[in-house]
Amino acid sequence: MRFGHFDDSAREYVIERPDTPLPWFNYLGTDGYFGLISNTAGGYSFYKDARLRRISRYRYNNVPFDFGGRYIYVRDDDSGEFWSPSWQPVRTPVDDYSCRHGMGYTIIGSARSGIRTDTRYFVPPGENLEIWDVTVANQRQTAAKVSLFGAIEFALWDAQDDMTNFQRNFNTGEVEVEGSVIYHKTEYRERRDHFAYFGCSETTAGFDTQREAFLGPYRGWDDPAAVGSGAATNSIAHGWSPIGAHQVRLSLQPGESKRVVFLLGYAENPREDKFDPAGSAVINKRRVTPVIDRYTSVDRVDEASRELAQEWDRLLGLFQVDTPDAATNRMINIWNAYQNMVTFNLSRSASFYESGVGRGLGFRDSNQDLLGFVHMAPARARQRVLDLAATQLADGGAFHQYQPLTKRGNDAVGSNFNDDPLWLVLAVVAYVRETGDGSILDEPVVYQNAPGTEQPLLDHLVRSLEFTLSRLGPNGLPLIGRADWNDCLNLNCFSDEPGESFQTTTSSDGKTAESMMIAGLFCAAAADIVDLARHIGRLDLAGAYAAARTAMLETIEGPGWDGEWFVRAYDDFGKKVGSADCDEGKIFIESQGWSILGGAGLSNGMAQKALDSVARHLATDHGIVLNQPAFTSYHLELGEITTYPPGYKENASIFCHSNPWIMVAETKLGNGDRAFDYYRRICPAVREEISEVHRAEPYVYAQTIAGRDAPTHGEAKNSWLTGTAAWNYVAITQAILGIRPGFDGLEIQPVLPTSWAGYTATRAFRGVTYEIRVYRNGPGTAVSLSVDGREIEGSIVPLPGAGTDLVKVEVALS
Ligand code: GLC
Ligand code: GLC
Repeated sequence: MRFGHFDDSAREYVIERPDTPLPWFNYLGTDGYFGLISNTAGGYSFYKDARLRRISRYRYNNVPFDFGGRYIYVRDDDSGEFWSPSWQPVRTPVDDYSCRHGMGYTIIGSARSGIRTDTRYFVPPGENLEIWDVTVANQRQTAAKVSLFGAIEFALWDAQDDMTNFQRNFNTGEVEVEGSVIYHKTEYRERRDHFAYFGCSETTAGFDTQREAFLGPYRGWDDPAAVGSGAATNSIAHGWSPIGAHQVRLSLQPGESKRVVFLLGYAENPREDKFDPAGSAVINKRRVTPVIDRYTSVDRVDEASRELAQEWDRLLGLFQVDTPDAATNRMINIWNAYQNMVTFNLSRSASFYESGVGRGLGFRDSNQDLLGFVHMAPARARQRVLDLAATQLADGGAFHQYQPLTKRGNDAVGSNFNDDPLWLVLAVVAYVRETGDGSILDEPVVYQNAPGTEQPLLDHLVRSLEFTLSRLGPNGLPLIGRADWNDCLNLNCFSDEPGESFQTTTSSDGKTAESMMIAGLFCAAAADIVDLARHIGRLDLAGAYAAARTAMLETIEGPGWDGEWFVRAYDDFGKKVGSADCDEGKIFIESQGWSILGGAGLSNGMAQKALDSVARHLATDHGIVLNQPAFTSYHLELGEITTYPPGYKENASIFCHSNPWIMVAETKLGNGDRAFDYYRRICPAVREEISEVHRAEPYVYAQTIAGRDAPTHGEAKNSWLTGTAAWNYVAITQAILGIRPGFDGLEIQPVLPTSWAGYTATRAFRGVTYEIRVYRNGPGTAVSLSVDGREIEGSIVPLPGAGTDLVKVEVALS
């Protein structure tokens, strides 16, 4: 069952009814100012940091969970009836509802009683504000008098404090009102130099800034007293809960429509010039007024909306494909690329599943996210990599997280997630392959944010590898530390106190438990460094890490092999985890994927055997589960993974992030059919057909889909902010379609499903456009390339000479 449809030409998903199984949401903003918006206009906004600069308020764990929103009320001033065009929060039935989630904007519209209201919400590129561009149309045969209310509830900046510290916060709220603009300036008098504003393009009939005055005592956002009575009260908030609400009265002839723009924005002033007049407590508005004036003009709003569309034309135009599968095209050309950009911007900080108060940017998460967007935003990728590297510790380890506003490592979580540093290698090498910008390797970067400790970025990569090599356990495999990619496999934790963090509690000395996932990841990172080192003429490094990799591969194929698949880990007692010998958790996905990605088992049949075991034990119709059998009881020696009920999260759900590793591994063995079959099982656009089962958005990946042990098998949870986005993009574009950036050119080595006759693609690479046509002469994966009509050896299209901007490549498969 579907709740909407894809409109590919507009690059939108069109939701056709407001009561989707879960709030289906979108993001606004790509740079400093961000917002989340659901299909019923729920959501909130913040500037750069969801925790420290929260602009509008969110009600955590509310029902529904998208509460707090950008709410518009329409009141028929003749009858007194009112409703929300976005259905929530009033929930009066509306006709012809639609929500169009597009690239950086959302349009929600509906009609009731002959009044149609459509609102386009977006953030203009480069601005710290969001626009609610409302069109109200009178579809009646008679004139209509309508009041339009736009309302937002301000958060008092620090989101954590805002939801806990009421004894203080009920007293601090302050606002100013000037013309059609409400200024939220809580704490501005003291240590804050920023404020928010909520403006309106029209002369308003009234406003409210005190929540209780607008809603009325004992009432909620579903039934505001001011809307019911048709008269805002012009309240001024002193303490309690500042809001911004504007009332606009419209008289509309039959067939007439009017546009009203509401603006929600964020602004900063230099500390020494905050007040006007100086010495007063009044906000200096000289800088912000021109911005507000610009964006309350509908011409400028239209122009900004076109600029946003052009920016997405440009970004998505960098890589477009035409394959025989519509869902694949949709994901690569539009939604997966878009989700990659969002995950890059927000890491795991703010969604309806990530509260925005907990986590900063994750070290491993951000490095992996880069794999999905580096071709779209190379300059930002460069900066991100340098920021991440600056939080690396001198011993090569890494802070697990950092706060984007301060760019400093998060002490509360610390380090010792032993996979972390290796992801930096993958990210930097991906960046250099994509851009050819080897200068990044020479950039001086500090360790642990400490001035004076600068070393070239290349040194950071070497220390990352050395971090692993200097922490090998009894079998010669890497020590796991607090966890590897699987945050919940906590082999040194041994926590028996409720409430302790599994990630930061460590009760064993950590010298025994080993991770096969890190072993495979190390081999992949070492292979990358060897390639890079050869490319830059550092044969010393190439030699050293080729040897280290060979040794690690031997260990993987030795103590890491269980007979039918790769072992997952060795625990603190030296016992195997993920082995036929175990009662539960006999086989895990990560070590099958990563051993093969690292290059193990390719020539001795182990890789094929391991993948056959995945197919036999882990694959379900809804995707590949993380482990089997699921754990049914708590294992002190394994940690958080065994706390989840069977089939959920790290305990045997389809943890979608890890599925593409198997897809890539299958392509390494030439199994295009299996790789693509796995791709489709978790592909949101394919699963659209079963939206009543999948329940999450059909246009973006979710972190997990409940596994076969769960009563809700097939149900997705935690959409949007997941490494699943980048990795599926890598799997489909680089492994299955086989288009891979390399140091010396663009490699094309597809491993397609046998039923495909081929595909075409256009890809920008180092400023040159490649038009690629792949066709089959036979069922296999051998390629012959012809470049601009000339046959070439091998699978790499060499970099063209200067001045070339178009290269045509024909790829025959046989
Ligand atoms: C979450 C974390 C990620 C981790 C994964 C598996 O997605 O953000 O860092 O690798 O869970 O535990
Ligand atoms: C929990 C989650 C895991 C996530 C971690 C982040 O352990 O199960 O997915 O990575 O929290 O702290």
